[in-house]
Amino acid sequence: MGWNSWNSFANIVNSQIVQQQAKTLASNGMKEAGYQYVVIDEGWWLGDRDAAGNIVVDAKQWPALAPGQKDGDMANIAAYIHSLGLKAGIYTDAGKDGCSMYPDSGPPLQHTGSEGHYDQDFLQFSKWGFDYVKVDWCGGHKEKRSGAIQYAQIAHAIQKAEKATGHKLYFSICEWGSQNPWFWAPGVGEIDSTIWRTGGDIIPPVVESLHDAEHDKRIITAKNVLDSFDNGLHPEAQHTGYFNDLDMMVMGMRGMTDALDRTHMGLWALSSAPLMVGSDLTRLSPATLSLLTNAEALAIHNDPYGLQPIKVDEPAPGVEIWAKPMAVAGRRAIALVNRTDAAAQVNIKWEKLGLTAAPKSAHDVWNKKDLASTSEPLSVPAHDLVLLTVDGEDKAPAEYAANPSTITGIQVNFQPSFAQLHYTNSTNHVVIMRVKSTSGLSTAIALPPTTGSQTGAIGLILPKGTPDLAFDGSSASIHKLDVYPW
Ligand code: GLA
Repeated sequence: MGWNSWNSFANIVNSQIVQQQAKTLASNGMKEAGYQYVVIDEGWWLGDRDAAGNIVVDAKQWPALAPGQKDGDMANIAAYIHSLGLKAGIYTDAGKDGCSMYPDSGPPLQHTGSEGHYDQDFLQFSKWGFDYVKVDWCGGHKEKRSGAIQYAQIAHAIQKAEKATGHKLYFSICEWGSQNPWFWAPGVGEIDSTIWRTGGDIIPPVVESLHDAEHDKRIITAKNVLDSFDNGLHPEAQHTGYFNDLDMMVMGMRGMTDALDRTHMGLWALSSAPLMVGSDLTRLSPATLSLLTNAEALAIHNDPYGLQPIKVDEPAPGVEIWAKPMAVAGRRAIALVNRTDAAAQVNIKWEKLGLTAAPKSAHDVWNKKDLASTSEPLSVPAHDLVLLTVDGEDKAPAEYAANPSTITGIQVNFQPSFAQLHYTNSTNHVVIMRVKSTSGLSTAIALPPTTGSQTGAIGLILPKGTPDLAFDGSSASIHKLDVYPW
């Protein structure tokens, strides 16, 4: 969770803008709500290196901010961000060139990528004090590289940098989904690599201080938000600790209405997607800010299983019911999504959510109140989203025993299914295992430590047609899989 400069500042990003945004994040309630990263995206570096290959930045755009600092040193802004109790993020490209910035707001630039300098650049980011690095794919794409190979090499460079500085550098993979990163990005290069972009940009940037014809016509629509959500659905790759990245958020930006803001926040929270807000934080309305900091929506986002939702019904074309399995037994988070131009009345068929009957309680997240009844239809305005949490009773799962590192005979017949994997991990650290199926599932799973004879459970979503699972790794024991009939 945090802020990223790209959507609202594109290549005009500089120290002053970042300071202002960081200060706002630290004082408008977002920091308390859990937003912690301030990420400087493309535009901070114009592609210059010195004779030793070190990155050189514009000293006027990135001046000294405190006594003893030098102009043109990116450590200055990282220290400023840290002084607010926040974490600092930076950006580069996996190829030789970056995306060449935006042609309508600056000359196309070359050599703003890190290829050929992986070890040097990632060490530099870490020495500057950055805690997070987003690595884009423009150069890699232009050179027709393999994402799995380039990002694994970068993971190794990050690992070396972390060893040298003793400082964690969180890896944000931005390969746009072009080479199915959900199959190889989780844990790529054997590092703690936990987020990967699933699609192209939610919008081209909307920079409010630029008034050229190109910017004036940019406006965000429901389609931008819904396409990012739809493209980002790879539920089988996502589970505890590994997340599909649906792209930076555009809440409150030009074209967004309160209804679209609710749709955006609801879908990103339900997906446990990174919440990197790309808006100009100084311009957020109280309504947008209150959605971004809504504690109940954030609790859905931060559910320990961290799964994506399952589409359980479409009672009318464009009117959809999505449900997210939650770590508490019998609990679901539900979004009623209305993609149409007209208000809709929605009846939820509870048995489609894997519940034995109507839930004992249902809670309306936006209005912060319990529903009087679970049998009345719910009204969803045009292009809006109603977010609920419900507590009921799960239908009994089908149990499959592990033998010892495979599970066979699994039946997932109708749709992606929610499953719980029971295990023991008696080390005192998280164990990463790869899990594969002949159905095409191939991902990493993170198994947190368990205590004594207690078993742990993580949530998984199995693709339709999963017949078997094979686990690779021996530091933890897999006991059984419960597959819930949804
Ligand atoms: C790509 C990425 C964006 C942003 C821009 C910067 O388009 O997908 O998120 O980083 O590059 O040029």
